[in-house]
Amino acid sequence: MSSTYDSPSATAPAVDVPPAVRLMQMVQGYQVTQVVGTVARLGLADLLAAGTRSSAELAEATGADSDGLLRLLRAATTVGLLAEVESDRFALTPVGACLASDAQPASLRDFAVMPTAPGHWLPYGRLLEAVMKGRPTTSTTLGMEQWDYYQEHPEDDAAFARAMGDLTARGAREVAARYDLSRFTRIVDIGGSQGVLLAALLAAAPRATGVLFDRPEVIAEARRGISARGLAQRVELVGGDFFTEVPPGGDLYVLKSVLHNWDDEQALQILTSAHRAAEPGSTLLVIEGVLPSEPEPSPLHLINLLMLVQLGGCTRTREQWQALLEAAGYRLDQVIPPLPGEYLHWSLLEAHRR
Ligand SMILES: C[S@@+](CC[C@H](N)C(=O)[O-])C[C@H]1O[C@@H](n2cnc3c(N)ncnc32)[C@H](O)[C@@H]1O
Repeated sequence: MSSTYDSPSATAPAVDVPPAVRLMQMVQGYQVTQVVGTVARLGLADLLAAGTRSSAELAEATGADSDGLLRLLRAATTVGLLAEVESDRFALTPVGACLASDAQPASLRDFAVMPTAPGHWLPYGRLLEAVMKGRPTTSTTLGMEQWDYYQEHPEDDAAFARAMGDLTARGAREVAARYDLSRFTRIVDIGGSQGVLLAALLAAAPRATGVLFDRPEVIAEARRGISARGLAQRVELVGGDFFTEVPPGGDLYVLKSVLHNWDDEQALQILTSAHRAAEPGSTLLVIEGVLPSEPEPSPLHLINLLMLVQLGGCTRTREQWQALLEAAGYRLDQVIPPLPGEYLHWSLLEAHRR
């Protein structure tokens, strides 16, 4: 039986298809997201890691309906996650293998689940409303703001934190490789979630201790992971609200993928908390996308739109970063761009407290 293992998937971006076909592929994008998310939720990559399985075997292992699962498996072959190597025997492709729990450098399983969870999926379904009104749809869709929703839905919150952790793990060592951390002695990661980035930064800063700061419920979850990494003695865990205050005494403060969640006024409040806690001359490292100043396609435009819909934040150009940091009492000294070909598009913005 032929498989799509080596052939372009029916829905992958392709430049050599007629415009109408390309458009129809785009329209079907929502189905692809759900197929990937459902394959991830069912743990099919782990079940297929040891070898090929039939739809009946996979239905038994997952408790899924056999007809529904067979349809899902064939849809997954069509988008390139799986291959049907003989009739009704399925194998992982290299793309599908990225969903396995032990994929290196980090699994993308939770990242695939994340957009299909109600807290993401439902607000984004009202993109038109966000565009018309210029504000997020979370409170009208979920009945509350995003972080309040997570507080009330601890499972979604934990899944979101794992997804961010997996993404961060993919880029964390590379961040440490691009920026000399060896001179720092106390690194405070503000909104540091489960401590994935902080652990990588500490590995590159042997003299430093760390402070992991996030919402109290996130810090409660992070404790186990920090201990499992052997960092319990080296990392102080602090729960709180970064609009009020952040821990003092760091010679390096880090904010990764935090400020783009907020509008300028709120981002300024967070930076002001950091400024109050930090000594003059101390370093602030903001790790985020820098939106192109000139018109040019970039995945960051999708993130910018997502920030509008979910949180009312935004992705910023270099000029906007500079103005925001200046307003908070920081001097932007350098912007280290992402490595070529790096999908995550994180720049390192190094600033110093005046
Ligand atoms: C998009 S996540 C980024 C997590 C992490 N820095 C990373 O890049 O993987 C934003 C983080 O900000 C935290 N956060 C949101 N509101 C907060 C608040 N008021 N005080 C402290 N942390 C907050 C969230 O819990 C979450 O961990």
